[in-house]
Amino acid sequence: MGNVCVLDHPLIQHKLSLIRDESTKSKEFRELVEEVAMLMAYEVTRDFPLEEVEVRTPVGISKAKRIAGRKVALVPILRAGLGMVDGMLKLIPAAKVGHIGLYRDPETLRPVEYYCKMPYDLQERDIIIIDPMLATGGSAAAAISFIKDRGGKRIKLMCLIAAPEGIKTVHDKHPDVDIFVAAKDERLNEHAYIVPGLGDAGDRLFGTK
Ligand code: PRP
Ligand code: URA
Repeated sequence: MGNVCVLDHPLIQHKLSLIRDESTKSKEFRELVEEVAMLMAYEVTRDFPLEEVEVRTPVGISKAKRIAGRKVALVPILRAGLGMVDGMLKLIPAAKVGHIGLYRDPETLRPVEYYCKMPYDLQERDIIIIDPMLATGGSAAAAISFIKDRGGKRIKLMCLIAAPEGIKTVHDKHPDVDIFVAAKDERLNEHAYIVPGLGDAGDRLFGTK
């Protein structure tokens, strides 16, 4: 069974409290989501293996370490996942970015795919799927299935806020996928919104409501 890792660094938690606040407007909301994504990238890549290299400094030879040939693909789930891409690219600038377009049908709550474009060498890459919200888990579970169908193997899921229901759905369907979150919230409401959550992530990022 995959793990759920709650990233409780004080900077992440402080910024998340501002993101949750209903009085935070789109501009600040976008900046904070980008910053938190950057901080989370630091933890999500913690298990990347290192190799020793020798580096000539101005003063001598140093035995130093560098990441051992890891190739990364970031896969935001459109739209709200887009808000986390730039923050992650600041720390992992060589990552390729794939996109999956999914929206949650308001009636059925089932994810509907409308776009998918992945790096051609997806199967060689460490894949980090990003989406601020893991609610019922339908969108994330579908995104993981699409990526596996296209040859993706080493997959992690990174979200700002997860409901217990979403974590269960993803782990029931994809027990090989570890989930990284800034917070695990209480529950879903009758519209499958996370309580207390932050509201509609896409609307708050892009000012569409
Ligand atoms: C939101 C969010 C997730 C999904 C989570 O996207 O960004 O992708 O809902 O819900 P789930 O876990 O129940 O599937 P939404 O469908 O609102 O689309 P948007 O990003 O285009 O606004
Ligand atoms: N999507 C969101 O944007 N927010 C939620 O709380 C649930 C799904």
